[in-house]
Formats: sequence, C-alpha cells, structure tokens
Amino acid sequence: MLRRLAALRLHRGLLRAGVAVEVVLFLHLLGALTFVAGIVVAGVAFEAARRHRDPAEIALLLGLTRVGVLLVGTGALAVLVFGLWLVHLEHIGMAGWIVGALALWVVALGLGGVGGQRPKQARLLARRLAAAAEPETPELRALLDDPASRAANYLSALAVLGILALMAFKP
Ligand code: HEM
Repeated sequence: MLRRLAALRLHRGLLRAGVAVEVVLFLHLLGALTFVAGIVVAGVAFEAARRHRDPAEIALLLGLTRVGVLLVGTGALAVLVFGLWLVHLEHIGMAGWIVGALALWVVALGLGGVGGQRPKQARLLARRLAAAAEPETPELRALLDDPASRAANYLSALAVLGILALMAFKP
C-alpha cells in the first residue's frame, strides 16, 4: 500500500515536472522572441532616423528605439531567468553551450549598452533642435553616424544570433 502511494506521488511529481518544463520552455521562447523583436525595432528605427535630416523626424524615429530597448530589456531578462530554470529542470548543468550562451548574453547586453549611448544623445539633441525649430547640426549627424557605436550595436545583435545557434546545435 505504502509502495503504491509512493509510486503514485512520484508519477504525479513527474507529470507536474513535465508540464513545468513545457511551460518554462514556452516562456523562454517568448522571452527570446521579445528579445529579438526589440533588437529589430531599435535597429530599424535607428537606421530610419539616420536617413532623415529634419530633427523633428529624427527625434520621432529615435523615440521608437526606446520601445525597442524596453523589449530588449524585458526579453533579455525573461530569456535568462527561464533559460536558467530550464537548466535546473532538465538537469543540464553548466554544459559548454550554456556557459557560452551566458557569456554571449553578457557580451550582447554590454555592447548594446555601449552602442546605445550615442543614439540616446542624438535623440536628446534632436528633440532640443526640433523644439527650437533649428535644422540638423554637424554634431547631430556625427552622433547618428558614429561608427564605433554602430559597430557595437551590430556586434551585439551578432552575439544574440550566436546564442540562437548555440541553442539550436548545443555543441
Ligand atoms: C543566455 C541565457 C540562456 C540560457 C541559460 C538558455 C537555456 C536554454 C535551455 C536549457 C534550453 C532547453 C534545451 C533543451 O531542452 O534541450 C533552451 C532552449 C532554447 N533556447 Fe535558450 N537559453 C538562453 C538564451 C537564449 C536566447 C537569447 C535565445 C534566442 C535568441 C534562446 C533560444 C532558445 C531556443 C530557440 C530553444 C529551443 C531549442 C530546442 O528546444 O532544441 N535561448 N535554452
């Protein structure tokens, strides 16, 4: 009788764990989609802003990058929390691909943080110029075209692509 009860408990526990893994994987994938959506929104809005000359239009488009940054932050946090939860539930441990993903996650956020500084300064300057009805200045153009921050942003997106490859191939 006691043995049957223990077996029943184990069965229920496994069922619960099975559902949890699926739910956590779903939330992890939702986080990954949000993360990537944010990168695309921020990237497209920034590149569109670079193609404009009117500070009001530039400010409007750079304002959209804030939505992207919010999505990136939410997605990055969700992917980390639910990813580590999956590691725990599936008893994966610190496998090479997990360590690689964690390292690339830090690199992606670090580069994104650095690469976001000039666009932020450009957004604030464009807003000031638009409010004063002034045209684009060389300073605003330099902020928009800054090669180092563009490189940092593209490398950050590449790091996320690297994480996706690690998730798929699990080398
Ligand atoms: C950086 C922290 C991350 C950790 C610790 C992590 C961990 C995990 C784990 C443990 C799994 C389950 C693998 C399995 O069941 O075999 C998984 C699946 C997955 N992850 Fe992540 N992940 C992270 C980030 C990301 C990111 C940034 C993306 C996408 C941009 C991503 C996309 C995926 C995908 C698509 C799967 C499904 C792969 C499959 O089922 O074979 N993950 N992740």
